[in-house]
Amino acid sequence: MKQPAITRIDAFFVLHSARADSWRLVHSVAESWVAGTADRSDVKAALTDLAVLEGFHAFPGPRAMGALDQLLAADDAAGVAALIRQISEAILTNRESGDTSAQAAGSGDETLDLLPSAFGRRDQRRPSFETLFITLQPPSRWPAMADEIRRLRRFEDQFVYDCVFVGSLEDAVCAAIVNPRIAAVVTTDDMPYRSHHDAPVLRSVLDPILNYSGDQATGIDVARILKNLRPELDLYMLSDRNVEMLAGDPRADCVRRIFYAVEEPLELHLSILEGIAARFETPFFDNLKRYAQRPVGTFHALPIARGKSVFRSEWIRDMGEFYGINLFLAESSATTGGLDSLLEPTGNIKKAQEYAARAFGADKVFFVTNGTSTSNKMVVQALMKPGDIAIIDRNCHKSHHYGMVLSGGQPIYVEAYPLTRYSMYGAVPLKAIKKVMLELRAEGRLDRLRLLDLTNCTFDGHMYNTRRVMEECLAIKPDLIFLWDEAWSGFAHWSPFLRPRTAMGAAAAIKDWIRQPSSVDEYEKQQAALGKKPTDAALLETRLIPDPRKIRLRVYQTNSTHKSMSAIRQGSMVLVHDIDFAHVESQFHEAVFTHASTSPNQQLIASLDVARRQMELEGYALVMNAISIALKIRAAVNQHPLISKYFKVLGADELIPAEYRKSGFVDFLQPGVNWGDIAKAMREDEFYLDPTRMTLVCGTAGFDGTQFKGLLANKYDIQLNKTSRNSVLLQSNINNTRSDIAHLIRVLVEISRGIEDDLNSGGAGVQAAFKARVKSLMDDVPDLPNFSHFHPAFRKGAGKKTPEGDMRSAFYGAYVEDECEYVPLTGAAIDKRLESGPDLVSANFVIPYPPGFPIMVPGQVLTRETIDFMRKLDVKEIHGYEAARGLKLLRADVLDGKR
Ligand SMILES: Cc1ncc(COP(=O)(O)O)c(C=O)c1O
Repeated sequence: MKQPAITRIDAFFVLHSARADSWRLVHSVAESWVAGTADRSDVKAALTDLAVLEGFHAFPGPRAMGALDQLLAADDAAGVAALIRQISEAILTNRESGDTSAQAAGSGDETLDLLPSAFGRRDQRRPSFETLFITLQPPSRWPAMADEIRRLRRFEDQFVYDCVFVGSLEDAVCAAIVNPRIAAVVTTDDMPYRSHHDAPVLRSVLDPILNYSGDQATGIDVARILKNLRPELDLYMLSDRNVEMLAGDPRADCVRRIFYAVEEPLELHLSILEGIAARFETPFFDNLKRYAQRPVGTFHALPIARGKSVFRSEWIRDMGEFYGINLFLAESSATTGGLDSLLEPTGNIKKAQEYAARAFGADKVFFVTNGTSTSNKMVVQALMKPGDIAIIDRNCHKSHHYGMVLSGGQPIYVEAYPLTRYSMYGAVPLKAIKKVMLELRAEGRLDRLRLLDLTNCTFDGHMYNTRRVMEECLAIKPDLIFLWDEAWSGFAHWSPFLRPRTAMGAAAAIKDWIRQPSSVDEYEKQQAALGKKPTDAALLETRLIPDPRKIRLRVYQTNSTHKSMSAIRQGSMVLVHDIDFAHVESQFHEAVFTHASTSPNQQLIASLDVARRQMELEGYALVMNAISIALKIRAAVNQHPLISKYFKVLGADELIPAEYRKSGFVDFLQPGVNWGDIAKAMREDEFYLDPTRMTLVCGTAGFDGTQFKGLLANKYDIQLNKTSRNSVLLQSNINNTRSDIAHLIRVLVEISRGIEDDLNSGGAGVQAAFKARVKSLMDDVPDLPNFSHFHPAFRKGAGKKTPEGDMRSAFYGAYVEDECEYVPLTGAAIDKRLESGPDLVSANFVIPYPPGFPIMVPGQVLTRETIDFMRKLDVKEIHGYEAARGLKLLRADVLDGKR
């Protein structure tokens, strides 16, 4: 009989999600043995394949695996099948902990002995995790060591853990990658480097990441590598050498505690639990729960607090029943008595923000309860003063544009590369940014440039090479400030494969590089090669290295925690990694006071606190899951014989032009691609596609994006993200399950079959109409208009070459009614003015949804491309445009007088 297809150790990126499948497959082979359609050798082979992976997990553990071997040796097919079923079910239902696994598996007493058990069954729901031990002890000793550690468990322990043992650096890295339940690591201070498993692809990925050559590794090496992969892990080191010297080594700062050998096993045990408790603690949420239990009498506003007016009401009691009493008990407009003030936090909100900063690798975090729309405005207002220049992606969220209006900052819009066929934009090429910076420098105006403001990742999943962008820009202006709008990708911090492309991931890498003694040499060497006066062309072509002695690293990130983590809608954070924050702190607080509500919702703040806790404890597993779900959807759609006739999830090759994919990476699903290729692309390419954001082309099935979104929502209860003319955006997140994929695929099959049936039964007429519809959606797409330029009235004091403009004056110019006019979008008047003037100057932002970015901004001179695009738009929602009145313009005769 055919062996089950169990994933190889090399494919470790999907291993953790494939583990449950693998056990199910082994179970089906065992059932076949019971039924007589397979034999013992099939089961044995399947288990052998699995054993490598299982070596990195505490559950089911060596005893249960040994018991399976014995049952196999005794030819006990039924016994083998029963035990495998129990293990498989426990893994599938995530009940692998010593506290609950036996019950979950419904096992008898004999199995209880085989599965890891816990003392103190006081609370069956104690959260559980696994601790990785890197040890020089031989594997034969590991079960006994696990027993010794298990004996340290106490009734009072808040959590329970089991142990995984490995004997080399490579195995430790594999364990940390494939086993997301590992939350703490205890390492010895030297060990072999190589694993005894032979895994060439694994090495092709790990070797460049680990950047290590040699046979032996030290505890500090492994600690630093693991911290780089999974920063949330608590690391402990056991040494029988000079622990005092080790503790003083600055490279050991990533180790939580160093112990002298195993002299104090209980201390180690308690430290491990304390480390988890530190992540588990949610200062604000914990206090809010306590507050809700107190019999508080309220004599302030917010009558809904305590819920009495709700639960006593004949008329709105259903609201109380729907939401539950705690929502009302946990509401208050007070900022004392166990609560805190979001605007001026001094207590548990302050602490919760500090914990979030720790979690995301930032210096500081500000919680925001009005979405990233507000976070962006806060940051822009805090950093920009009137007349400062910002280089900004024109395609970014409207909050940035409004931020410019509020602050009086002058935008230099840079364009993302267009993806005209799909009516969307990619991201802004670094060359375009450098070019503007060099032009500013040539005009002696670089000092006015303050901010680079970009979206990472974009709506459609384009991730910048954040480190490269910042380094090259800092090479031209060492104190440039960066605002990365990571509204969609806050979760990326929890994936080692996406984190380097985040603002904070790159900031940490740059900070580390600055500290390396070799960084100055690298800089000097490049300077010598470039010569005294390098041309702009040479600077544009060179991957510039900044002067590490001059860099002022100032990085801000905003993220909609509610979009990618477990925060309630509108929950957002601002992350700060700014060496000069002290100089902007007061204006930052002003910006908070300007925008934050004085009545922030308590539940929202609590959810930010809890979202942080979740990510610190299980973010790695959740994000891996979101990625593996996305990869499964991509494969299921593109490889399905029927679905792929009408639909397609776009690959990296179609969303990122080849010039920005220098690694040669084509797509996740390209035949022959391995994870080494994917990791290389992630490290090196200018842009990288976040796999969790999937552009599903539906124009080829005859649907425009809005129509298809409506069909999925109304008929099939599937909600999705944004649309374009011929596509919709699917997004996998930490909430998705395999069942969601199954539902989506079933629906796509049904829709595809419907199209197929209609085409087959409708005859030539229907087929021709379908073809014409597809052609119109896929080929007759309007060109995307670039930003044109600001009217000269708003460019006083601007550079000759650089296109900045005083958008704020234009915006407020529109407040003077007499100085505005309306011109119908259709009709000859506009065409005449486009040909012979006077200029058409937009009075406001005009933002169609989709694409969702301003086609016109205040003060912008309209061109033929913009008008053509507007005329071809077939979307219903266009903010800033009233079809009945026409385009709102600033009167050119008035503007001419102001030139
Ligand atoms: C790139 C980007 N930034 C910011 C926002 C605004 O975020 P929020 O909805 O949290 O206000 C969005 C919303 O879609 C967005 O796409």
